[in-house]
Amino acid sequence: MSEISLFPRPQSIERNEGSFILNADTAIRAQDERLGEMLANYLRPATGFPLPVEPTGDTVNSRNVINLVEEQDLDSPEAYRLTASSDKIVLSASSPTGFLHGFQTLRQLLPPQILGEERADGIDWRIPALRISDAPAFGWRGLHLDVGRHMFPPAFIKKFIDLLAFYKFNTFHWHLTEDQGWRIEIKKYPRLTEIGAFREETCLPTNRRKFDGKPYGGYYTQKQIREVVAYAAERGVTVVPEIELPGHSLAALTAYPELGCRGKDYQVRTSWGIDDDIYCAGNDDVFTFLKDVFGEVLELFPSEFIHVGGDEAPKKRWKRCPACQARIKVEGLKNEDELQSWFVRQFDSWLGDRGRRLIGWDEILEGGLAPNATVMSWRGSDGGIEAANAGHDVVMTPTTYCYLDYYQAEDFASEPPALPRYLPLRKVYQFVVVPDEIADDKKEHILGGQGNLWTEYIPTSDHLEYMAFPRAIALAEVLWNHPQRRDYGAFLTRLKGHLPCLDTLGVNYRPLDD
Ligand code: ACM
Ligand code: ZN
Repeated sequence: MSEISLFPRPQSIERNEGSFILNADTAIRAQDERLGEMLANYLRPATGFPLPVEPTGDTVNSRNVINLVEEQDLDSPEAYRLTASSDKIVLSASSPTGFLHGFQTLRQLLPPQILGEERADGIDWRIPALRISDAPAFGWRGLHLDVGRHMFPPAFIKKFIDLLAFYKFNTFHWHLTEDQGWRIEIKKYPRLTEIGAFREETCLPTNRRKFDGKPYGGYYTQKQIREVVAYAAERGVTVVPEIELPGHSLAALTAYPELGCRGKDYQVRTSWGIDDDIYCAGNDDVFTFLKDVFGEVLELFPSEFIHVGGDEAPKKRWKRCPACQARIKVEGLKNEDELQSWFVRQFDSWLGDRGRRLIGWDEILEGGLAPNATVMSWRGSDGGIEAANAGHDVVMTPTTYCYLDYYQAEDFASEPPALPRYLPLRKVYQFVVVPDEIADDKKEHILGGQGNLWTEYIPTSDHLEYMAFPRAIALAEVLWNHPQRRDYGAFLTRLKGHLPCLDTLGVNYRPLDD
């Protein structure tokens, strides 16, 4: 029997003799017709088979069918069970998400041509007889994408979401605002995109002090965003938006200078790095503005979590600003770190009142964590350990294992420009999601992990795919499975067998070493 290369590897697979063959007479049986159609739409283009979707009827004696069976006794809403025999395929789950995961497994079990958009004739559409029982180890399995430094068209965002779903990621963290560009249409503040979405030029990848002289910019309309969010939801992916505060906000300040401490002379940033100009914490209009912005964001994104950034906010301006200093006095705060904490707390309660939860980068720990905040630990795992031990939920995304904008080879000159640090595939596969330093009764606070794609050095979608794959596949596997099941050698062997899938999906992945 040939090796079955599924990514992420299922919790259990039992191989049996024989196989199921999908043919022109195969039918899909489903209680939920929409789900049945979803599966049919995955299988029709390449096979050209009609694959009619029929209501569930006689499921015991029927042959040559794919039965979708709702079953309540599974471990979690994301769990599924798949049984393939020469007669039929039975896919059971307790929720649409479980079925969607099962669909991806079915697609990976068929010959890779199934993933093509064009009809592929003369293929034996065979699925080995087997029984798979599967469920994820972690509930947050994410990929992040920065569209502030470089932008990617909505069609590519959808392709990216398809790839997330293919590897059973369930969270797309969409980093929508930056010093270098504001990318989300906000109806109440049109200058955010009229002015804030465009920069005069961009520094060169090899030298931050040299510029290309070409204007750059763009943004997503609310209509495009709604389409992306709906597209993701159909595929079991939640889109978590990020609106950065108080730092990484120079594009917004350029559009509305009165929101900064200096109040004038801002310019959408043209080079990478961290900007000193951030929102003024002493100006009440800043909070009115941000709450208006979040008001529109909540209309667009139904996600439980809303990301407010919080990273890399220099306190230089706040130290010299009379309004910020007055705020520190009036609120009885000790220093600028506590002022940042106070700033973030305004949104913790505001989001909570609206049934949402605040998540932010680990700097939100400095000066005291807001009561209901969830922490995204990126400067290593220490912030996540501290937050989890204090009873806060955490998403782990330490640079050490999760920064997919780092180089994939030790010899940087052999690779396209990237952030000058090294993160090979092997290291991603070693990702410690739940460090030992977290008390046993606090381990459940680790919701999961995520790979981050910052795009300073990633101007095109081809380049983005090169950085994301195959490393994202390693991440998908470690977030789906418990650590004791890892075996890098076996992973690599399976991955070699899986590359035709990436080829058929048209993914510009980095070739494996040797
Ligand atoms: C970050 O990488 N600045 C969160
Ligand atoms: Zn100020």
